[in-house]
Amino acid sequence: MTDTVSRTETARLAFDGRELEMPVLRGSEDEAAVDISKLRAETGLVTMDIGYGNTGSCTSAITYLDGEAGVLRYRGYPIEQLAGQSSFLEVAYLLIYGELPTRQQLDAFVSEITHHTLIREEMRHFFDSFPADAHPMAVLASGTVGMSTFYPDSWEIFDPDAVEITTLRLIAKLPTLAAWSFKKAIGQAYVYPRNDLGYSANLLHMMFAVPSEPYEVKPEVAEALDLLLILHADHEQNASTSTVRMVGSTHVNMYASISAGINALWGPLHGGANEAVINTLERIVKSGGDVAKYVALAKDPNANFKLPGFGHRVYKNFDPRATIIKRAADRVLDATGADDALFEVALKLEEVALNDEYFVQRKLYPNVDFYSGLIYRAIGFPKNMFTNCFAIGRLPGWIAQWREMIASSETKIGRPRQVYTGVKQRDYVPIEAR
Ligand code: ACO
Repeated sequence: MTDTVSRTETARLAFDGRELEMPVLRGSEDEAAVDISKLRAETGLVTMDIGYGNTGSCTSAITYLDGEAGVLRYRGYPIEQLAGQSSFLEVAYLLIYGELPTRQQLDAFVSEITHHTLIREEMRHFFDSFPADAHPMAVLASGTVGMSTFYPDSWEIFDPDAVEITTLRLIAKLPTLAAWSFKKAIGQAYVYPRNDLGYSANLLHMMFAVPSEPYEVKPEVAEALDLLLILHADHEQNASTSTVRMVGSTHVNMYASISAGINALWGPLHGGANEAVINTLERIVKSGGDVAKYVALAKDPNANFKLPGFGHRVYKNFDPRATIIKRAADRVLDATGADDALFEVALKLEEVALNDEYFVQRKLYPNVDFYSGLIYRAIGFPKNMFTNCFAIGRLPGWIAQWREMIASSETKIGRPRQVYTGVKQRDYVPIEAR
């Protein structure tokens, strides 16, 4: 719990002839929450909030977002400033340790990360055991939990030194696991990390270099990738981060917790939306650019189709990350000379959707994933690698949230309640008598 939480107010609930007074918490940005932890003990009631749209699961000092105003800040710093002036590893440091590093602190952090990028050589065989068409997210999640077998010190979750080395190993090795899962899928030799390259440039090198030829990373492409990683670095209690916290609340090690977060991110309603966006744009281009047809499909309640890249649980005005990414997409397409037919369709789709009553009424705006896939694609990433890149970006946020949870004296094992709707007690009938 942060020391900026106030508990001076109360809320009252009347039920069954009784009245219960409950404390109201107020955070540093004046957000208020009713503490219902005594509700069941005192009234027999539990709360029901399917999808947790109205449930606070923790207090946190890491990320602030205001969905109505389109505000996103990491440790108080606006995303626009970080995206314009910082680097991904500096943002990672900020999220995890709470303050921007001095030059000396940043150099030491970058050097530590750089010198842990190799994965254990035995893990080469691990990649070979998957089918050639294995989705890289499945390989990444498996490799992440697999690392706990090589580093048993990660079980010491209350030992600050063990937490520190696990933090560094995860940030350093995830790009290597991600790139090798791709190399395996395309049958190319694994490319080892290069310590003379920056974090994003090294990921591009491991993805796209081959041992037989020199490979030069374009600085503007590495910069664009670094920007995407910054924009994805944290987003408070989203589905994957809540998963990391929930799994971590059982006191399992950080590798297992992060691996669970990677699995949650994979879904098309969450991080997997960037892959779904490109699939949709490709289908629209193939069908002759009929944007209106897909907008109509998204509005049809019987079609079971949502326009990927539109809508957000929290942002109901605009997603500030989408605004930054849209500008970057323009620059990357220029730098890479990538075919921009999909970008044109994306712009058209955005325009049609934003002026459509259905989308306006429901406050459905392009989210971070609407344009990120176009950048990944222009860089040369295949579609099934997009969410791997998102996972690398989200990693510092997951780590910061896991560390905050483990360090908090308030943390309890995550264990929601339910309202049972099944059959009442009945007697077992032997199989012959059924
Ligand atoms: N296309 C069409 N209709 C939509 C869309 C969409 N993309 N998103 C929401 N709606 C509609 C819903 O059908 C619902 O309509 P109704 O009131 O007539 O029933 C209404 O808008 C409210 O939407 P919910 O699904 O209740 O909103 P929720 O907060 O539960 O879902 C979500 C948010 C999952 C992001 C949703 O907007 C969606 O599925 N979007 C597409 C997938 C996507 O882009 N996900 C990435 C999110 S960003 C991220 O995770 C990094």
